[in-house]
Amino acid sequence: MRIGILTGGGDCPGLNAVIRAAVRKGTEVHGHGFVGYRDGWRGPLEGLTRPLGVPEVRGILPRGGTILGSSRTNPLKVDGGVERITAQLAHDGVDALIAIGGEDTLGVATELAARGLTVVGVPKTIDNDLGATDYTFGFDTAVTIATEAIDRLHTTAESHHRALVVEVMGRHAGWIALHAGLAGGANVILIPERPFDLDEVCRYVERRFELEYAPIVVVAEGAVPVAGQAAVQADAALDAFGHVRLGGIGAFLEREIEARTGKEARATVLGHVQRGGTPTAYDRVLATRFGLHAVDAVHEGATGVMVALQGTSIVRVPLEEATRELKTVPLERYLEAEVFFG
Ligand code: F6P
Repeated sequence: MRIGILTGGGDCPGLNAVIRAAVRKGTEVHGHGFVGYRDGWRGPLEGLTRPLGVPEVRGILPRGGTILGSSRTNPLKVDGGVERITAQLAHDGVDALIAIGGEDTLGVATELAARGLTVVGVPKTIDNDLGATDYTFGFDTAVTIATEAIDRLHTTAESHHRALVVEVMGRHAGWIALHAGLAGGANVILIPERPFDLDEVCRYVERRFELEYAPIVVVAEGAVPVAGQAAVQADAALDAFGHVRLGGIGAFLEREIEARTGKEARATVLGHVQRGGTPTAYDRVLATRFGLHAVDAVHEGATGVMVALQGTSIVRVPLEEATRELKTVPLERYLEAEVFFG
């Protein structure tokens, strides 16, 4: 069997670990061959390939990013996109695809499987917002990086008696903010699932100053104030999946906190630092297990499924379950953290 692998959407620490595990087991245990498609769905759409055998995956386990490249190309928005992909796979002699990605990449995989292609999905996103899997790899690394940043910001905040706002990633779900905020002892955590009241945020900030501590506000990029005031960049453009580029909520809070409390505030936007560099051990193990199980699924003739972590086991779930709804932070999880606000 010849198996194509692609990585789509935002990159994520652990992608290379998945590729390595799938290629190693697929080649050495099952006797299959592989081809790498470059830059997500653009690869099979435009015939962009690279060799992918055991020599090509040597040494990539700890490397961030993806050796295959990534893009947010959406073939469902391209005229004849699905037909072009089908023809390309036939041309390359590829019998099955392993698609590693988040909701967008897996949404395309779901559609292709429904149209008869053999596709197995692997969930990936630092946001940890995919349904059907308890965790996605990359999330632990992002939380670790954000927590370290919060720890560092604490000391400079104390020295200058400032409020520090830390903007982390999280478009629709506040998992990174929640976990990094809890781990870093944030003064208040703001997530997209719960519009925040600026007056309340400022009360928390003032209370922390009264206790002679400097407040740290952790905010997910997708969080919004109750008034519904949009805090996205004015020039926000949409990508091929219709997502606006977020950013600006940290600066918004910096201005508002200064104006409302009279205290100095500074915002730090962690941005793509959270996605770069080497994965944590947890993410390397999870990504490796996903790769091993994905290639087993292909070997056994499965299609339209995604590998997922449920408890400590890797299971197979229908692809559409993964993309049916986003896994957002439940209210009770947020309320656990609220004990530490102010
Ligand atoms: O989906 C992962 C993610 O990192 C989001 O948290 C973030 O909103 C988005 O990607 C950023 O996308 P880009 O790298 O295209 O700016």
